[in-house]
Amino acid sequence: MKIRFLILLGAFSLIAYQSCTSSKKVTSNTDLGPVTFEGQIKPIMLAHCTPCHFPGGEKDQLDTYDRVLSRIDDILDRTQRDTAAKGFMPFKLKKPALSEEELAVFFKWMEDGMLEK
Ligand code: HEC
Repeated sequence: MKIRFLILLGAFSLIAYQSCTSSKKVTSNTDLGPVTFEGQIKPIMLAHCTPCHFPGGEKDQLDTYDRVLSRIDDILDRTQRDTAAKGFMPFKLKKPALSEEELAVFFKWMEDGMLEK
């Protein structure tokens, strides 16, 4: 019993040690690092905002880091409106609305300093 406890304690210390020495900022234990545009934001935009806002689409392009950064307020405003409200995005629900989890990724991106990669 005592040995088991010690092994457990050892494992915990190792995990704690690794999180403290990791070069990336760790904000919660399930988190592997900061949210970045290339890593998490762009894939969400590709899933929900194509083809209209990506090359080949007819609307304002939201395909690059700079473009998304400069329109982030409008993006977050529109994606959180009531799905039936005027201006809601994705336009007329032609793509599924962003989930709570996906919106949370955007908020964490802002918290983490809106890194590109
Ligand atoms: C089916 C095509 C389509 C999709 C998918 C779509 N949009 Fe749009 N978007 C439009 C249209 C059409 C407008 C212009 C009408 C308006 O302003 O309500 C627009 C306007 C916007 C604007 C205002 C700037 C502009 O270009 O006029 C923003 C910001 C925006 N969309 C963000 C998004 C985001 C973020 C997504 C993905 C989550 C998305 N849209 C998905 C068609 C689309």
